[in-house]
Amino acid sequence: MSEIFQPNPEFAKNANIGSMDEYNTLMNKAKENYEGFWGDYAKEKLDWIEPFTNVLDESNAPFVKWFDGGKLNVAAQCIDRHLDTRKNKAAIIFEGDRGDVQTITYLDLFKNVNRFANLLKEDFGVQKGDRVVIYMPMIPEAAYAMLACARIGAIHSIVFGGFSSEALKDRIEDAEAKVVITADGAYRKSKPYMLKPVVDAAITEGSPVKKVLVVERNNEDVTWVAGRDYSYNELIKDKSTACEAEPMDSEDPLFLLYTSGSTGKPKGVQHNSAGYILWAQMTMEWVFDVKENDTYWCTADIGWITGHTYIVYGPLAMGATTVMFEGVITYPDAGRPWSMVENHRINQFYTAPTAIRVLHKMGEDAPAKYDLSSLKVLGTVGEPIDPPAWKWYYEEVGSSKCAIVDTYWQTETGGHIVSPLPGATPIKPACATLPLPGIMAEILDPATGEVSEVGETGYMCITKPWPAQIRGVWGDEERYKKSYFGDVVKDGKPVYFTGDGARYDEDGYITITGRTDDVINVSGHRMGTAEVEAAIKKHSNVAEVAVVGKPHDLKGEGIFAYIVLKSDDGVADEVEEVKAINTIIKKEIGNIAVCDDMIFAPGLPKTRSGKIMRRILRTLAKGEEVTQDISTLEDPSIVATLTSMVNCKTC
Ligand code: PRX
Repeated sequence: MSEIFQPNPEFAKNANIGSMDEYNTLMNKAKENYEGFWGDYAKEKLDWIEPFTNVLDESNAPFVKWFDGGKLNVAAQCIDRHLDTRKNKAAIIFEGDRGDVQTITYLDLFKNVNRFANLLKEDFGVQKGDRVVIYMPMIPEAAYAMLACARIGAIHSIVFGGFSSEALKDRIEDAEAKVVITADGAYRKSKPYMLKPVVDAAITEGSPVKKVLVVERNNEDVTWVAGRDYSYNELIKDKSTACEAEPMDSEDPLFLLYTSGSTGKPKGVQHNSAGYILWAQMTMEWVFDVKENDTYWCTADIGWITGHTYIVYGPLAMGATTVMFEGVITYPDAGRPWSMVENHRINQFYTAPTAIRVLHKMGEDAPAKYDLSSLKVLGTVGEPIDPPAWKWYYEEVGSSKCAIVDTYWQTETGGHIVSPLPGATPIKPACATLPLPGIMAEILDPATGEVSEVGETGYMCITKPWPAQIRGVWGDEERYKKSYFGDVVKDGKPVYFTGDGARYDEDGYITITGRTDDVINVSGHRMGTAEVEAAIKKHSNVAEVAVVGKPHDLKGEGIFAYIVLKSDDGVADEVEEVKAINTIIKKEIGNIAVCDDMIFAPGLPKTRSGKIMRRILRTLAKGEEVTQDISTLEDPSIVATLTSMVNCKTC
């Protein structure tokens, strides 16, 4: 039995959802009248230009429509409607790597976004429906760029700044983006680093990109291509601060965000306007319980879904103050986040388990040196958190008075789906607890579609459409259906499958056990093993490769590659070969995909039909003994060979 911690009663008194009774009432309301539940919230929470006529249309499932007939604009939801009451309230507090702080009020945000939107329209000819790639550091202009696209109805596709030029190029081409917004670079650990050269390398002959907008952040020298590259700092000067918000249909696309799946090609996950922004706002209010005078900080990068929903769209939709941080949380030391909490009087702090593990390791006593009394809610996201890291976070950072919300969700879900509510849910270390009200999340047995028994690992599914759900994979209807609705059938109907395994405990609480597919989770970043394999195969001497995840103390999962080389004479210089392969990975994907371990093996464990038995490779990478049946392998002796190679590497 794991420990259980009750919500802080003082906090619960004023919480938006303050008891399990309230939680159950909301959940029951959703179960009894699903459309009524969502329709009421959509009317209450959003400002409609034209009201919707239908709550949910499932007639073409799994392609669904929410709030059909309605018109609204997401940028106006995030800015304009706050101007009457929050004009001078901080919308964004930006802290640069070197400690420079900038406060952007809602009125400033309105003006900056409108100027940006006018620039995109007037100078770049961006129109409704055009795709705009944003490849930016964590600076306020990144948020302006997102909201400027939303204001004029352009679809943004943010590519994480750590991705390489090849990865950026693939994403630009798949979305057929005609504009890229970037920066010369930014600062990391007090030193300038560059992004513009990566963009230059990604735009090659035949690229759909016609114009590049460059925010000058660090003023380092960059190459300017005449007629293609323009300085934001110059063009923005004469732009008007007035820009009409484009009325968008509820189901007009808001953004694409590429994420890894089980094939080599990343998927362009599409989110649309009304349903996404509704759930972004509701989860901010419920899960982080942000109040009018609170200051909220999420440490994610805007290149990931967490940065989209919980740095920009969710906080701004509810009129909150959101902190944006350019730097590295362990620089100049592991006290950085705690000094920021103290200085900005931060009330909600949201980060990834990897960050918690690193902060714990590098600065176990650091939280005690700062005044963290402003904190009310602590959040984690992106990967399972281990109990020791959870305990340290709870006791040392939260002084055992803040709830930890272990939020389980994905790029595709748009917002949280399973999470504690800080004023209601008794929490257990490392447990995502219960589905949020309105989310019909169930753990199902894939063979029968029945709800899994307590303690049995099943598939984490969502059995009814929800407003913030993925609307499609850009340009690939079949892939959307196959990726999410192909594996589990309940009551004769295919249901959304997350790709994760999970199990119920005796209280009905949900613990996520990890991916069931060939996706690994490195420091909370999703990585398709097939993507890494495709990069490694670009090395001319690689004949075969299989990549699996392995447990990693800090990163959660590390990347383990088994490589068969073409040359018979084995590896002339292993260190050089590893370097060469990692260089290719950095070029094709980025530093985040560099392998933690590589084994140059004489062969891979394959069945007679040629299928690689990855389970064996995973077992070996974990340092465990292979106990599964290997008699069906073409060459069972390969298992003993690999075992001794792995043991030798780890001994
Ligand atoms: O495996 C789950 C894991 O992260 C995956 C989603 O990754 P991504 O789309 O990049 O979004 C990350 C931020 C939401 C999931 O399929 N995951 C996410 N949150 C948790 C988690 N695993 C365990 N516990 C969590 N709280």
